[in-house]
Amino acid sequence: MQNRAEDIAARLAKKFRRSAELAAKEGILPYKSEGGRWITSPYDGNSWWTGGFWPGLMWQLYTMTRDESFLQEARRCEAILTAELRTYRLLNHDVGFMYLLSTGADYKLTGDEQARTDTLHAASLLMGRFNPVGYIRAWNEKQKMGYAIIDCMMNLSLLFWASRQTEDPRFAKVARIHADTTLREFLRENGSVSHIIEFDPETGRRVQEIAGQGYCLGSSWSRGQSWGLYGFTLAYLNTGDERYLSAARRIADYFVAHIRPDGLTDCDFCQPAGEERIDNIAGACGACGLIELARATGNAAYQEAAERLLDGLIDHCCDWTEGSQGVLTHCTASYHDDGAGRHTNITYGDYFFTEAIAKLLGTDPMLWR
Ligand code: GLY
Repeated sequence: MQNRAEDIAARLAKKFRRSAELAAKEGILPYKSEGGRWITSPYDGNSWWTGGFWPGLMWQLYTMTRDESFLQEARRCEAILTAELRTYRLLNHDVGFMYLLSTGADYKLTGDEQARTDTLHAASLLMGRFNPVGYIRAWNEKQKMGYAIIDCMMNLSLLFWASRQTEDPRFAKVARIHADTTLREFLRENGSVSHIIEFDPETGRRVQEIAGQGYCLGSSWSRGQSWGLYGFTLAYLNTGDERYLSAARRIADYFVAHIRPDGLTDCDFCQPAGEERIDNIAGACGACGLIELARATGNAAYQEAAERLLDGLIDHCCDWTEGSQGVLTHCTASYHDDGAGRHTNITYGDYFFTEAIAKLLGTDPMLWR
């Protein structure tokens, strides 16, 4: 796999060096590529939760190659994202995804003080979404005030980071309360996780599970499984709490049992037999979580499963042609919303694929902590 990873890293650098030039020329923050062009997010402008993945990808490529053009493209997009901190209105709990991979990455890799300040600003916004009855509020709509979602496990690292930076335990305390709620309310007996749980915002009482981006209520949306797998692994790495490691293992075992024979990942692990609906973002993110879990546990089976996923992506779903901008194909935003993107290229697929390759090469700067 090592030789393969080196070859893929060289191809990623070549393709994105060219496609970053196009993004810069157009002056946009890429969300997905279609018809040979980059398209910016059609939702919530540059406050959409995915905004950090393109700059994060640029930081990954910068650490792999030390090519300054990747740093410059990351900084160009960082300026777009820090303007959103001032706008504020559309930001939600996903400031973790957005700013760990942009301003947080900049501070981590260059020591830039303004980037550190901007990342602390984002962490304070995430703190402001904490409901002391026990969860971090996901979204902004009034009727969704009680919603918490599995994706938030990835955002918690921003709070753990802020506690280490400021030596103020409040951030980490909130992250642990939310992680404990997720452990108690989202993790199912069979090792799968729910996407959305609604709580009473006055009392914290569980109201109901809500069907989210997967096939149906009670099913197992694969990207949600990867958020849980990687998110609980990160919670363990941030705290050393064995309960989080055990949760990560249970989710990982469930995930690994559902990897397709070709190494690709169904959009939902409970989708009807014969339904060809793939989400390679889940596979790429799952591979990242599995590699970290293999390191944390010393269990080589997790590493082997991650490599099986990556082999599947490399064998079947990488677009290296010159006419397109992104690489990873067959990314699906949501099971029932083809308009949001079905079997297409989306930047967060490319981000996690590149992060996984960087982990194999030993260049991953670990932007999630
Ligand atoms: N965090 C939203 C998604 O995975 O689509």
